[in-house]
Amino acid sequence: PPRDTRSVRDYIRTIADFPKEGILFRDVTTLFADARGFRMAVDQLLTPYAGERISKVVGLEARGFILGGAVAHQLSVGFVPIRKKGKLPGAVISEAYALEYGEAVMELHDDALQPGERVLIVDDLLATGGTAAAAIKLCERLGAQIVGCAFVIDLPDLGGRTLLEGLGHDVHALTE
Ligand code: PRP
Ligand code: HPA
Repeated sequence: PPRDTRSVRDYIRTIADFPKEGILFRDVTTLFADARGFRMAVDQLLTPYAGERISKVVGLEARGFILGGAVAHQLSVGFVPIRKKGKLPGAVISEAYALEYGEAVMELHDDALQPGERVLIVDDLLATGGTAAAAIKLCERLGAQIVGCAFVIDLPDLGGRTLLEGLGHDVHALTE
C-alpha cells in the first residue's frame, strides 16, 4: 500500500462562520481524533526541545490540556493547567488579557511551579498572543523560566509570534 504522507496540517479542518460569521475556524478535533496525526503533532511539538531540560509542561485551557497532557507524558514530567477565571479550586494568581471585545482572566495555582522550574508552554493555536503572554507572566510570577512556547497552529497575521518573540521568548509552531 502507498505510504501515508499526510502532514499535521492535513488533519486540521476549517469551519466557516464559527463562532461568528466571517471567521474561518481552524478545528483541531480532527487532528486529535486521528492516531497518526495526534502522535505526529505531539512528537513535533517537542522536536526543537530535544536535549533541553524541561521540568513542567504548562497547558492552556482548553485544547492546550489535550496536547500538553500528552507532551508531559512523553517527557515524563508533570502537567500544570492554566485556566479561565474561577475554575481552579486552590489559591490562584491571575492575569487579565485583552480579547477582541473586553478582557478575560487566566489563573494559575500559586503553588503549581517552584522558582527555577523550566517550563514548556503548550497550546493548540497562537492568534494575537494575548493568552500565551498572560500565561508566560503567570509562570514568571512564580519564578519559573520559560524554555519555549509550542503551538500546533500560528495565525501569523494576528501578530502573536511577533509579540512573544519581542518579549524574548522562543515560539515553535507546526503550521501557519
Ligand atoms: C483559543 C486558542 C488559544 C487562544 C489563542 O482559545 O485555543 O488558547 O484562543 O488566542 P490569542 O492568541 O488571540 O490569545 P479559546 O479562547 O477559544 O478558548 P478554549 O480553548 O477554552 O475554547
Ligand atoms: N481556531 C481555534 N481557536 C482560535 C481560532 C481558530 O481558528 N482563532 C482564534 N482562536
